[in-house]
Amino acid sequence: MVPVLTRRSAMAGALAALLAPGSRQAAANAPPALRDLAAAKGILYGSCVQEAELAAEDDFTALVLRECAAIVPENEMKWQWMSHRPDEEDFSVPDRIVDFATRYRLALRGHNLLWYWRTPDWFKALPRGQSAESAMVRRVTEMCRRYRGRVFCWDVVNEPIDVETGRADALRKTVFLDEIGPDYLDLAHRAAREADPAASLVVNEYGIVYDTPAAEQKRTAVLRLLERMKRNATPVDALGVQAHLDIGGDPFSPPKFRRFLADVAALGLDIQITELDATDERAPAEIAARDGLVADAYARFLDAALDEPALGVVVTWGLSDRHSWIVRHECNAQGWRKDGLPSRPLPFDAALARKRAWTALAAAFRAAPPRPPGKWAAPALALHHARR
Ligand code: XIL
Repeated sequence: MVPVLTRRSAMAGALAALLAPGSRQAAANAPPALRDLAAAKGILYGSCVQEAELAAEDDFTALVLRECAAIVPENEMKWQWMSHRPDEEDFSVPDRIVDFATRYRLALRGHNLLWYWRTPDWFKALPRGQSAESAMVRRVTEMCRRYRGRVFCWDVVNEPIDVETGRADALRKTVFLDEIGPDYLDLAHRAAREADPAASLVVNEYGIVYDTPAAEQKRTAVLRLLERMKRNATPVDALGVQAHLDIGGDPFSPPKFRRFLADVAALGLDIQITELDATDERAPAEIAARDGLVADAYARFLDAALDEPALGVVVTWGLSDRHSWIVRHECNAQGWRKDGLPSRPLPFDAALARKRAWTALAAAFRAAPPRPPGKWAAPALALHHARR
């Protein structure tokens, strides 16, 4: 168990220190927080976090509370980590993150209900048909019911598309497709809507940012999927664009990406940037040059993305280089630096100093056209307030 009172008082202490009279002058001179710059344009900004990072009650936790209006559990809500036996789920760790978010009035993105890569072994061993379908629906229903009113959106099926399969619908060949059939996605979305009618339901996908034939094909496949879902009256509210950027890799075409977002918005859908970061394995070792390239990638990407008014949520996949799947070498090995130097993918460095990527994010929020007031940031938080 995380010692809730200790954590609460430690955080209260950290925040009180920020606001203490002696530090008022310093606070007045301090740069604004990303959450406030984003909120000034009606955008919700946040980061993924791990429960263990928050439980450490250290300077990183204080930084999360300073900079973020939303958090996303990096791994803790993934089915495989919650369930080791048929139809049994351990909610204790996700509960602690949700409690943290509620206590500090942070919006919480639910990530994720179903992901082929993090599915329990027992589910994979089920026979095709009814039992698999009811196990999937049970998982979706239990999660959405339990966190109703405290999770403002759900990535229902993570990464559903794979253009390599040659299937006309471009659905990824996953255990869900095998065991339940191509309707699995619609079934999951319907179950989620029924269990929590107020949560936004998101299709979250990667590999749809760059200007390559493969990414272009995948963008088209994603659009077709969203169109099909709309036609079938399958509840869907937003596209999540993961945005794991890659410095010095594939080219980026702002107009093509911009057009894609406009096409998604024309379907009546919102758009969220759900996992922004940047691998720097091809960038030079020298830190100033490297940080400059990472910041440029953030800037070029965000300038194109934030131009689309249907895009109201921006989440970085981590806040500081102290905690990142890229630095931990959990991302694809192509993203690892060959010289063994730690990567620098995020807005703050490992010592929690602002980097040029932070400045790029701040500038992008400042330049963004305003969204309808309260459409994203306020409703997401209002859900929490209502529960308090
Ligand atoms: C990653 C986590 O960051 C890692 O800690 C874990 O080892 C693997 O998963 N797309 C997603 C995220 O939707 O859930 C993934 O997160 C990164 C890629």
